[in-house]
Amino acid sequence: MISKTTATDLTARPYVKWAGGKSQLLPQFQLCYPPELASGQITRYVEPFVGSGAVLFDVASRFALSDLIVIDRNPRLMLTYEVIQSDVEALIARLEALQAQYWAADQEVRHALYYEMREAYNRRQASDVEQAAQFIFLNRTCFNGLYRVNRRGNFNVPMGRYRRPRIADADNLRRVHEVLQQVTLRVGDYRLATDFIDARTFVYCDPPYRPLTRTASFTAYSDELFTDQNQTELAAFARASSRAGARVMLSNSDPRNIDPADDFFDRLYHDFTISRLPARRSINSRSDRRGPVHELVITSYPLASAESAGEKQCASEASRS
Ligand SMILES: C[S@@+](CC[C@H](N)C(=O)[O-])C[C@H]1O[C@@H](n2cnc3c(N)ncnc32)[C@H](O)[C@@H]1O
Repeated sequence: MISKTTATDLTARPYVKWAGGKSQLLPQFQLCYPPELASGQITRYVEPFVGSGAVLFDVASRFALSDLIVIDRNPRLMLTYEVIQSDVEALIARLEALQAQYWAADQEVRHALYYEMREAYNRRQASDVEQAAQFIFLNRTCFNGLYRVNRRGNFNVPMGRYRRPRIADADNLRRVHEVLQQVTLRVGDYRLATDFIDARTFVYCDPPYRPLTRTASFTAYSDELFTDQNQTELAAFARASSRAGARVMLSNSDPRNIDPADDFFDRLYHDFTISRLPARRSINSRSDRRGPVHELVITSYPLASAESAGEKQCASEASRS
């Protein structure tokens, strides 16, 4: 059986909240996957900016693949994937204890626990299981599920205010563990993916967003910034992967959300197919300035027509520029 058809509630989901997470866009993305995934000609999946893995878990639940390779340069995130892969029951036990402690505590005790955990996380001395538990605990209890580090690499997000945050989702962690049994994990730069790419490969790249506003680029930390130069290098990587026979899909925020004349990605990917998907993300707190927000999906292959895809979103907005 090649296509596993519909994803069910039993599908693994991201175990952390992550900036730029793609869970909400999955129904539209599914129309943009290359048809060779369903036909079985593609047997390998490579995701070099995996983050919380929304697309990884979707693809793994839908298609029979023999190899899945994911990469991210965030070492603490990748350590957590490794612990879920190899020692999920110990991690669940620790998270359940933390959740019980947090839920039973009043605001003052919660505050003390949060900042103790943050300090311990930044000391980096605990066991791998404990560091993974700290990572998930902080993600579920911090302000807005943000992941932000200072120049010394220390996590510095303040505590959030959630009444009963889901710190230990044992069922989902066990599903993620199952999926990860067939996944190769690598920490580092996306170019590590080069060794894995061939004509049987689907590569999906979701790099950090190109900042939508000037202010956004000024507030970001420099080591989290993915500059236009980085985007240009990534385009060269995408082109080389395509030349090696792989099918390549990339996503990014659409700069035309802010400036209709900004054709940065249209020029950069003039030889790829560019689709603009409506996204729910809001980019302006002032409601009078809120327009439709689009997410770019860029593919090295043409997309099926709206009719044959049985849907409108992805295909009908596709434009070759
Ligand atoms: C927009 S997020 C990916 C979100 C992911 N699609 C999801 O659903 O959660 C971008 C990710 O790329 C990682 N990253 C940034 N620069 C990188 C690089 N040069 N090589 C590999 N990963 C990188 C970041 O750590 C972050 O997790």
